[in-house]
Amino acid sequence: ARRVRTLDLQKAKRDGRRWAMLTSYDQYTAALFERSGVEALLVGDSAANNVYGHATTLPVTVDELIPLARAVSSATSRALVIADLPFGSYEVSAEQAATTAIRFMKEAGVHAVKLEGGVRMADRVRAVVDAGIPVMAHIGFTPQSEHALGGYKVQGRGDAAQQLLADARAVTEAGAFAVVLEMVPAELAAEVTRELQIPTVGIGAGAGCDAQVLVWQDMAGLRTGPVPRFVKRYANLDEVLSGAVRAYVDDVASGAFPESERDFS
Ligand code: KIV
Ligand code: NA
Repeated sequence: ARRVRTLDLQKAKRDGRRWAMLTSYDQYTAALFERSGVEALLVGDSAANNVYGHATTLPVTVDELIPLARAVSSATSRALVIADLPFGSYEVSAEQAATTAIRFMKEAGVHAVKLEGGVRMADRVRAVVDAGIPVMAHIGFTPQSEHALGGYKVQGRGDAAQQLLADARAVTEAGAFAVVLEMVPAELAAEVTRELQIPTVGIGAGAGCDAQVLVWQDMAGLRTGPVPRFVKRYANLDEVLSGAVRAYVDDVASGAFPESERDFS
């Protein structure tokens, strides 16, 4: 099958067919996820947390994300690969946004980029789209502005619903092909989804969205400890992997590994 295109995802909305997106930051997960039916892979700036071990997404750089994005696009042949523009790589100007997005296309071979912000970033979305690069917008809770927003909070409650609608309209008007809605009340996300022609991708935004996205280490249970309420754990990879590693360590200690059939004589 050929590579998924942004137009396919837009057609899925018209056909009422929901699709799944997952983050990926390396070749094995990328190939496995597309083999398992994931249509869009996000090389998220959540690599800051999930690959590089930072507490927030803020520190990760373009130079750190590009090699991960390169691995994901190289390892796949079907999924649409989207890279996040990290904090600091597009906010300064429309020109900066286009320049950074072009780097991801040329050096990482991705098929689209994602950036955070609605009305306030609409001219950046437009500049990247004008460069011939599909843009996935990201509104509602935007982790790169966590400090401005005053923490991890649901966005769009009460009077803030009008701002969220304005953000959704602004990024659509600016040419985004899809929009992530993060931590938005389910009813409002459903309303946005009904109003917009472009697909909405929900994370903590209810079942009314056209698609869903999760961080893979969260959904596969590799991340331990408390997770946000919107995360569903579909596996316990922490248990599976630590079981395997403990067995290996014990076998080395006891001499049970390596067995003689693995020897070279
Ligand atoms: O970086 C990321 O993982 C994301 C998604 C969770 C939407 O932006
Ligand atoms: Na992100």
